[in-house]
Amino acid sequence: MACTSPGLCSAMFTRALVTLAYLVPCFCKIYENVADLPGLSYDFVIVGGGAAGNVVANRLTENPKFSVLVLEAGLSNEGVIDSIVPFFDADLLAQPIYDWNYTTVPQPGLNGRNIAIQRAFMLGGCTSHNFMVYTRGSAEDYDRFAAVTGDPGWSWDRLLPYFFKNEKWTEPADHHDTQGQFNRTVHSTKGINSVSLAGFQWPIFSQHVIEATRELPEEWPFNLDTNSGNPLGVGWLQSTIGGGKRSSSATSYLGPQFIRRKNLHVLLHAQATKLVNPSHIGGKVAFGGVQFSQDGVLFTAKAAKEIILSAGAVGTPSILLHSGIGDRTTLTSLGIKSLIHLPSVGRNASDQPTFNAAQWLVNSTQTLDSIYQNTTLFNEAYGEWNRTHTGLFATQGGPTHLAWLRLDPESFAANNFTDPSAGPNSPHFQVIFIPLGFQATGNGITAGIIVVNPVSRGSVTINSSNPLDSPIVDFGFLQSEIDLFVIRQAVPKLLQFFKASTWKNYLIAPVLDLENLSDDALDELIRNSAGSISHFVGTAAMSARNASYGVVDPDLLIKGAKGLRIIDASVFPFVPSANTQAGTYVIAERGADLVKASWE
Ligand SMILES: Cc1cc2nc3c(=O)[nH]c(=O)nc-3n(C[C@H](O)[C@H](O)[C@H](O)COP(=O)(O)OP(=O)(O)OC[C@H]3O[C@@H](n4cnc5c(N)ncnc54)[C@H](O)[C@@H]3O)c2cc1C
Ligand SMILES: *[C@@H]1O[C@H](CO)[C@@H](O)[C@H](O)[C@H]1NC(C)=O
Ligand SMILES: *[C@@H]1O[C@H](CO)[C@@H](O)[C@H](O)[C@H]1NC(C)=O
Ligand SMILES: *[C@@H]1O[C@H](CO)[C@@H](O)[C@H](O)[C@H]1NC(C)=O
Ligand SMILES: *[C@@H]1O[C@H](CO)[C@@H](O)[C@H](O)[C@H]1NC(C)=O
Ligand SMILES: *[C@@H]1O[C@H](CO)[C@@H](O)[C@H](O)[C@H]1NC(C)=O
Ligand SMILES: *[C@@H]1O[C@H](CO)[C@@H](O)[C@H](O)[C@H]1NC(C)=O
Ligand SMILES: *[C@@H]1O[C@H](CO)[C@@H](O)[C@H](O)[C@H]1NC(C)=O
Ligand SMILES: *[C@@H]1O[C@H](CO)[C@@H](O)[C@H](O)[C@H]1NC(C)=O
Ligand SMILES: *[C@@H]1O[C@H](CO)[C@@H](O)[C@H](O)[C@H]1NC(C)=O
Ligand SMILES: *[C@@H]1O[C@H](CO)[C@@H](O)[C@H](O)[C@H]1NC(C)=O
Repeated sequence: MACTSPGLCSAMFTRALVTLAYLVPCFCKIYENVADLPGLSYDFVIVGGGAAGNVVANRLTENPKFSVLVLEAGLSNEGVIDSIVPFFDADLLAQPIYDWNYTTVPQPGLNGRNIAIQRAFMLGGCTSHNFMVYTRGSAEDYDRFAAVTGDPGWSWDRLLPYFFKNEKWTEPADHHDTQGQFNRTVHSTKGINSVSLAGFQWPIFSQHVIEATRELPEEWPFNLDTNSGNPLGVGWLQSTIGGGKRSSSATSYLGPQFIRRKNLHVLLHAQATKLVNPSHIGGKVAFGGVQFSQDGVLFTAKAAKEIILSAGAVGTPSILLHSGIGDRTTLTSLGIKSLIHLPSVGRNASDQPTFNAAQWLVNSTQTLDSIYQNTTLFNEAYGEWNRTHTGLFATQGGPTHLAWLRLDPESFAANNFTDPSAGPNSPHFQVIFIPLGFQATGNGITAGIIVVNPVSRGSVTINSSNPLDSPIVDFGFLQSEIDLFVIRQAVPKLLQFFKASTWKNYLIAPVLDLENLSDDALDELIRNSAGSISHFVGTAAMSARNASYGVVDPDLLIKGAKGLRIIDASVFPFVPSANTQAGTYVIAERGADLVKASWE
């Protein structure tokens, strides 16, 4: 066909480029332009190519009979250097083009502050820009999921094989001796997503952390592997890094050997707006397709078997609400036709608050401050990474160890609080040990505190019927006194760790005197400085089949709908006592099996 109009010419040109791109293995099925897709009818349409969405896309297309389209609103991760070099995670997070740019509503628990919400706007979702910390949580966290959903399939023992399907344990970039730093029997080398110990370990700082665990074995025990299901104690950091590069769901589950499958298509710059063409089948609502927007034009992708929402804890409830699934009164008042009355949509959300004021100046130049302050050192490290993917840029610019600890159960009882943890082998708070003092001059270290089982609940709502308007997000931070209490109690416990004699000639002085603050002053400092660790989950939670609340059944099918599932961090009934990517990967691995079981 001749090129008779400029528009057609550019369409043909784009198509020619895409054809050429077929020669480059990892580009072939990742489309930028809807006009280049062979069609818009698939067996499965997956909304969101993040942590969960890419797992499901990969697993479903193992069956050559299933065709799958992934609609991803964001940009390509391909060649984005800040998403590849682990050390550049913070640089990437500072770039709004790769983010949804949401902010919370004012948080009363944070003295009215609004805080930025980081959500990746790129293929791989938050696994393309997160801090790569790999933590699973406690066995009891998952056993609690099984108990509240009535489905033993969500228990730790039953999920462990799914952790193993996800994880590809990998040697660290520096090939150091890893003896005594992890327990091989609780890891898998056969999965898809690379996990490794750090490729650079900050020897002086690390030695003090380990020595302090030897001095304080009762309160701060060393734990060989905090990912065994028994996380309590202090252990070496494990990260989703392989060969000195970030391993995201895009680089792993959509890697070259998978994306070349004929039945797998990914469309970028495609923002799902709502589910369309509803019909009633046997008392349930089925949707004929997913409406999406590309360059301001609306299209509909049809799913013959299932629509799977994997747009994350903010995106998924937004799409549901705009599709008429949510609280009837709210939707009707916005002029949205209510199709399924599910008041729990967007409710019961959890995120983990973090408090990072425990910092010390140290008598050592061996901290990250030196790298940020000295361009020569920075370029040396970057050069090393460029040459061999090793050196300190082969790790995230951050932690070396994590601790998972409990508070005295009696202190909860004395304050009439119910213990929020999943059980006696589960932590109340996490500590992140970072050899970085965020100092303009000199060197320092930070020990961040994270409330892992917050009791406060937040929400995602909408205040307009336009799906392209931002949703309204509330983390509900520190609304519940107990969350504040956990941080307040964790602070003295943390200070005690740094009283171990090993730190004596290393610590020069604390940046802030937390030790002598009154409870009231400490509370005020917490409310004025706490932030989000970006583990937002639970906005479309699983519940038992006959429960009076919840959004999905234990098989992840939406209550009252047919052919519509949610597979992402929205479905967590509780946030696990962990960073949330591993748990999300596992929900997706099992979720994909549940989908397959329905159709094979
Ligand atoms: C800054 C940051 C740091 C983090 N650090 C860690 C860490 O170190 N360790 C850890 O374990 N966890 C970490 N997390 C959390 C972890 O990355 C998330 O819990 C996990 O990625 C959630 O997976 P998901 O599939 O639910 O959502 P996401 O990974 O967010 O994927 C959702 C995808 O859907 C797309 N999408 C959304 N709406 C639409 C729409 N309407 N149409 C089409 N596409 C849409 C998004 O662009 C995105 O690609 C971090 C998160 C952030 C934000
Ligand atoms: C966030 O803001 C940046 C710059 O302002 C913009 O390029 C980007 O597209 C925005 N993200 C979304 C999802 O709109
Ligand atoms: C709900 O189902 C669970 C098992 O899934 C059962 O134990 C419980 O009794 C049921 N509750 C009601 C109210 O039917
Ligand atoms: C490693 O993990 C296995 C399985 O949980 C456990 O039996 C074993 O004791 C652990 N090894 C060590 C050295 O902790
Ligand atoms: C929130 O979850 C709890 C169980 O943890 C449940 O009792 C409650 O009904 C839920 N609320 C909503 C609005 O879903
Ligand atoms: C920066 O690092 C280089 C290389 O180690 C060193 O030679 C130089 O003295 C450092 N500069 C400063 C200001 O510390
Ligand atoms: C490393 O490689 C990048 C990209 O090729 C380049 O921009 C950068 O200047 C290099 N840096 C060093 C220090 O070699
Ligand atoms: C706990 O509850 C008891 C009984 O209701 C009450 O007497 C006590 O003051 C409460 N303690 C605190 C710390 O609120
Ligand atoms: C919705 O809320 C946002 C802020 O959260 C506000 O800017 C906007 O005006 C509101 N829109 C409507 C229609 O109320
Ligand atoms: C720093 O360490 C050096 C040598 O290890 C020691 O001489 C000096 O006193 C220390 N300084 C402080 C402030 O502790
Ligand atoms: C806290 O106060 C005590 C008593 O005045 C003092 O000895 C100690 O150095 C103070 N702690 C810090 C970190 O300044």
